[in-house]
Amino acid sequence: MSVRTLRIPLPPYARRAFGAASVTAVAALAAALLPTGQAGAADSTLRSLAESKGLYFGTAMTQGDLNNSALTAVAGSQFGMLTPGNEMKWDTTEPARDSFNFAPADRLVSFAQANSMRLRGHTLVWHSQLPSWVSSLPTTQVRAAMENHITKEVAHYKGRLYSWDVVNEPFNEDGTFRSDAFYNAMGSGFVADALRTARAADPTARLYLNDYNIEGQNPKSDAMYNLVKSLRSQGVPLDGVGFQAHFVLGQIPSTFKANLQRFAALGVNVAITELDDRIQLPATASALAQQASDYAAVVRTCLAVTGCVGITQWGVGDSDSWIPGTFPGYGAATMYDANYRPKPAYTASATALGGGSGPSPTPGASCKVSGVVNAWNSGLTEDITLTNTGSTTLNGWSLAFTLPAGQTVTSSWNASLTPATGEVTAGNLGYNSTLAPGASTSFGFQANHTGDTSLPASFSLNGSPCTTA
Ligand code: G3I
Repeated sequence: MSVRTLRIPLPPYARRAFGAASVTAVAALAAALLPTGQAGAADSTLRSLAESKGLYFGTAMTQGDLNNSALTAVAGSQFGMLTPGNEMKWDTTEPARDSFNFAPADRLVSFAQANSMRLRGHTLVWHSQLPSWVSSLPTTQVRAAMENHITKEVAHYKGRLYSWDVVNEPFNEDGTFRSDAFYNAMGSGFVADALRTARAADPTARLYLNDYNIEGQNPKSDAMYNLVKSLRSQGVPLDGVGFQAHFVLGQIPSTFKANLQRFAALGVNVAITELDDRIQLPATASALAQQASDYAAVVRTCLAVTGCVGITQWGVGDSDSWIPGTFPGYGAATMYDANYRPKPAYTASATALGGGSGPSPTPGASCKVSGVVNAWNSGLTEDITLTNTGSTTLNGWSLAFTLPAGQTVTSSWNASLTPATGEVTAGNLGYNSTLAPGASTSFGFQANHTGDTSLPASFSLNGSPCTTA
């Protein structure tokens, strides 16, 4: 039995339901059942650190992400909750009336189950990614279409999801209801109707309302607060509120904690559901430090609010994020860089969760590196051989290392190197992306130097440190 199979049945609100002592006891039991040496590694992932505090740490993935082995290695080890980024939305699941397609989401559900991750369903009723057949229905037919959609989608996943974002983004910024197909047909009553329909289809999934720009106290969060209060007083099934938390660097609202607390005081859980923190590019070292502080503040806030059950980041790494496509000039919004190396925000989040020793290796990526240097007065060439000493085939690799001071890469072969100095990452090319267990690949580069012709140091493959031969 592994740590995960023991911990998964433990509800994320365990620190409320069982108290900290019970959580610790479960963790101790799990550690006792592990072969020697595994407990330490497991305990340093974001996932295990969060679980040891009674929270979950999740991520969003889309089906295309399943083809990226560096991404899946990080997702399956570091995160304990998965939200399909697009695949459970109406345009995918019911593109034509009463014609359902769950295949894309099912692939993500299988990945989550294979990695003992729980799932947040996202999302049933939303104005966006809504097929035109719904928005062009006569208003008299929208309720039946909505109830049918909810009933069939929720029933398909019955008993398998931790929660559903039943209604997504119902409000305008001024706190009025968004005039979408649902509000126009049913008025604000569509929310209660959607929640009741979802509960009838799966009594075990926790039912959420989810929105953005409701993290601080403002007219929009006031409207959500009043809606939640009203629904709860009427006995409408509502278990939680999701705060998307698409933050801008250095701009976490000062009322974030107090706002979460006022919702939790209504008797609902609260969750950070789509966390990212966008930076105006290029991301400088000081911006990354500020981002680390922002992420740590989010973690600390959730830890401090009784009723906050967990945090989900929207996308695994910076290259999986929606930010650059929607906010040109901004990016670097997640805890992992484009090569899945943990950024300062990762370390800060882990530290805020009680971890202490920096980024943990990604299981499955183990490596050995050897290098040969040929130097002359102001230049050198270097050939590096990378061996996959892990047990899984890598479909895509990135080898990070630190170049000695004064060395600047001028050209390379069999890999693409960036940047030219300092903390460099070598990424595979199309023809050498696959690296089977035990297999080696070689690449090289030419560099200028100012006297130090030694080999690079601190090699890590897909985020895991390598041994050097
Ligand atoms: O599927 C089409 C494809 O056929 C077409 O070739 C391609 C060309 O642009 O577009 C593809 O659709 C894209 C879709 O994602 C699937 O990849 C849409 O253009 C793109 O707009 C859509 O973006 C998604 C966005 O929601 C839509 O609003 C993002 O991936 C997704 O991360 C994002 O997630 C939302 C949450 O659900 C709710 N909160 C905000 C968050 C960020 O916008």
